[in-house]
Amino acid sequence: MSPQPSTPPRHIAIVMDGNGRWAKARHRPRSFGHNAGRKAVREVVEGCLRQGVETLTLFAFSSENWQRPQDEVGALMTLFMHALDKEVDELHDQGARLRFVGDLGAFDTPLHKRMVAAMTRTVGNDKLHLNIAVNYGGRWDIVQAARKAAEAVVLGQLRVEDINEQQLDHGMCLAELPPLDLFIRTGGECRVSNFLLWQLAYAELYFTETLWPDFDQASLQLAIEDYARRERRYGRVSEQAARPGLT
Ligand code: IPE
Ligand code: IPE
Ligand code: MG
Repeated sequence: MSPQPSTPPRHIAIVMDGNGRWAKARHRPRSFGHNAGRKAVREVVEGCLRQGVETLTLFAFSSENWQRPQDEVGALMTLFMHALDKEVDELHDQGARLRFVGDLGAFDTPLHKRMVAAMTRTVGNDKLHLNIAVNYGGRWDIVQAARKAAEAVVLGQLRVEDINEQQLDHGMCLAELPPLDLFIRTGGECRVSNFLLWQLAYAELYFTETLWPDFDQASLQLAIEDYARRERRYGRVSEQAARPGLT
């Protein structure tokens, strides 16, 4: 069972939302807001390293975001390229292991190559598992895990009756990493927007009006403190949650 919240969350996931509104308030193009969001990423990485959070999963680009105007999608791809060129050295020095999760085949070859290179370079690090969700959708994640199971059945490596939650979980993008403890969404919208649907089953949810470029270590601290006040019951009653051994 995951820790009771007196311990820090082991795995935090963030929907980094509000860049466009942040830029609009400054009469600047949306891309200005996306660029400003890079600082917030540095802040949360630093904060997680300080607080001993093991895994951080950031939603950078959803499978639905391709539907945005072409110039915005283009600006985001350019930003990802620059960020990969500029930030990976520092992340590597900080001991972060980078993983890009999502359907990566959709990206241009140069960008795809940089993602793979960053993952390969940082593979030996373990201070922080940093997952960047790009061209990611929670439904896609479930479908690709189901497809892996179906393929294993066809190859005679798996029996249909052995497909269960644990088995399917092994095929999900964040398999092997700690279960999701805390889901944060900035920007004031109270929705999941097809992020980690499977992994959200028992995560604690935290929504804040703060726009992503304004989110900093103090904001992260507030979210973690809020999480620390939660009682995670997993369907049990309060007394059992307080004493996990109690039946
Ligand atoms: C989130 O900020 C960044 C991405 C989806 C890539 P938005 O661009 O959605 O900002 P708002 O919600 O329009 O303010
Ligand atoms: C979710 O934000 C995706 C990311 C932050 C990458 P959106 O701004 O795309 O979500 P909706 O459209 O408001 O649901
Ligand atoms: Mg948005």
